[in-house]
Amino acid sequence: MNTFRGHSFASVAAIAMALMFSAASAASLHAAQEAKSPDTPAGNAENGKRVFTQKGCYQCHGREGQGSTMTGPRIAPDPVPLEVLSAYLRKPTGEMPPYSAKILSDRELADIYAFLQSRPHPPAAKDIPLLK
Ligand code: HEC
Repeated sequence: MNTFRGHSFASVAAIAMALMFSAASAASLHAAQEAKSPDTPAGNAENGKRVFTQKGCYQCHGREGQGSTMTGPRIAPDPVPLEVLSAYLRKPTGEMPPYSAKILSDRELADIYAFLQSRPHPPAAKDIPLLK
């Protein structure tokens, strides 16, 4: 029994999932934004940060949603559209635990989304002197 091997397979699967999702999300992001109804509640990024920590998302995705090869994929900045995020949290298909509406309300979810969207982008590689 080699537990390390088991874990690294899970990580590879998580990374593959993340890549698949982010490829799909780039294309669907615009459509989702255009389809957004005017009464979609705008999330509160500050509260989202609190909920992200309180509900333990940071333990797998990092405090900035930057992800880790061992625990969970990068989810910020540029998170998947809110509908996708919500659907996945309610019914994940991989290693992530599910978050029902009892544990995490739609309001809190929208706040988490706003927090993820508000994360700054990292500098481009060409702007990092050490990499020149
Ligand atoms: C125990 C670890 C763990 C926790 C806690 C966790 N996640 Fe995840 N999450 C994962 C893993 C691993 C994946 C990759 C897919 C999978 O295996 O389910 C993932 C996938 C995701 C995705 C899909 C990423 C994409 O690119 O499609 C989103 C969004 C997400 N998580 C958000 C959250 C939020 C928000 C919370 C807190 C409410 C949370 N996660 C808590 C481990 C975790």
